[in-house]
Amino acid sequence: MASVDVELARRRALGAWYTPHELVEELVERTIDATALADRRRPIRVLDPACGDGRFLVAAARRLEAMGASAELYGVDIDPGAAMAARAAVPAATIIHADALDRPWPVSSFDVVLGNPPFLSPLVAASGRDAGRKRAVGGPYADAAAEFLLLGVDVAAPDHGRVGFVLPQSLLAARDAADVRARVDALGAMCWSRTTDEHDFGAAVATYAVVFERRHRDGARDSTRSTAAADRSSTATPWARIAADGRGVPPLADVAADGSLGDRARATVGFRDEFYALAAAVGDDVDGPPLVTSGMIDPGRCTWGEVTARVAKRTFVRPRVDLDALEPRFRRWVDDRIGPKVLVANQTAIVEAVVDPDGEFVPAVPVIAVLPLDTSAVWELAAVLSSPIASQWIWQQHGGTGMSARVVRLSPALIESVPWPTGDLASAVAALRAGDVVECGDRVLDAYGETGNARAAAGFTWWSDVCARVQRRAASRRLVPDGS
Ligand SMILES: C[S@@+](CC[C@H](N)C(=O)[O-])C[C@H]1O[C@@H](n2cnc3c(N)ncnc32)[C@H](O)[C@@H]1O
Repeated sequence: MASVDVELARRRALGAWYTPHELVEELVERTIDATALADRRRPIRVLDPACGDGRFLVAAARRLEAMGASAELYGVDIDPGAAMAARAAVPAATIIHADALDRPWPVSSFDVVLGNPPFLSPLVAASGRDAGRKRAVGGPYADAAAEFLLLGVDVAAPDHGRVGFVLPQSLLAARDAADVRARVDALGAMCWSRTTDEHDFGAAVATYAVVFERRHRDGARDSTRSTAAADRSSTATPWARIAADGRGVPPLADVAADGSLGDRARATVGFRDEFYALAAAVGDDVDGPPLVTSGMIDPGRCTWGEVTARVAKRTFVRPRVDLDALEPRFRRWVDDRIGPKVLVANQTAIVEAVVDPDGEFVPAVPVIAVLPLDTSAVWELAAVLSSPIASQWIWQQHGGTGMSARVVRLSPALIESVPWPTGDLASAVAALRAGDVVECGDRVLDAYGETGNARAAAGFTWWSDVCARVQRRAASRRLVPDGS
């Protein structure tokens, strides 16, 4: 192997992608602010548990000096060369050559923890600690960055400690990382974040920078925190907001609402059992109602029979469900869904909904079926879902839950929580019936009373761009192109 390859392999194994100086400065500034220093007369204790050449410690020392505070600096790195470089860069710091995840750290002892921990799976790490993870990271999520984050919040002082890290997007997006997020949320509150557009430092991983503040031991909030997160409305989590920011989804301010979609319809989805029952009863050459998969739902258009669909690893062109082949309980499940409804694709970047006015289709799993309480409202339901507001809403609530960072995993509760507009939907419905989803979205904004403001315009631009992209991709997948 050429020496360049050896160096690359070594860096990959250690997750050693060094942080650009501008990002280091920004993160240090956001982490060490006046709140972090309030009333501290003793030296500020700072830890970088994966310090590399010590650049975060250098920047932290400089910032604390400028703020008139004295510092006690600690750095750790598993790479002896990095530890040596850090000692040279910050002679005043205590630099330890060790595996930071394999040390008995005193809890709650640092005012500031910061850095850019390695992004790598412990399963492939060459750091010799792959046999056992030190901090119970939930599920099979296996990125060392999660362990470093948990380490950071554990060792930060409970009443004021700040944790500022560069982290991989997967920590937001991976469902398996939900336990990590929950534990961090229980111990601290996110007080600043931004996605980093450097795509970054050769690591080929999308990242974001984030600052957490430890809560008081009793869970009370520090009222002085300088946070944008505090301004965010509703039940949106700050993790979801970072995921949304990362995909360029404009924030959704509070819109005037007349309740929510759940007041007008019941949203449902099948589970594993229904998935397998339908898969066993589906065929291209059977009699029965058509089965619609998420891949057959485009914004405002059902493409059953126009594209191929994969169901349980088999490909179909015109999949139908043989109802006689279903066990009675699955037959009942299908019967409950045969009727006018809206079908919503899952794992998508914007809400993609189609009307099934005659109730002829069976939703595959995990398509969401939205069953109107009053069937005459079925087009209105689809119109509300085919708008920028619904798509911004799902990102705000569930961003980061999809199979990838590009999409959102929908749930019935999420769909039912979409705010319902106060105004009239007749022109939006007319546009949707005419097949013009973008016009429909614009008219739904009227119904929310959101027309003409800059905030709504940003949402509309984002949504209509994604809509156009999805429609172009969908058109290229059709077996018979439109107009031929
Ligand atoms: C992404 S680099 C960041 C270095 C530096 N903080 C920066 O931002 O420029 C990750 C560093 O973590 C170190 N590292 C990897 N696994 C480690 C572990 N278990 N304990 C301590 N350091 C580790 C690597 O040697 C590497 O220097």
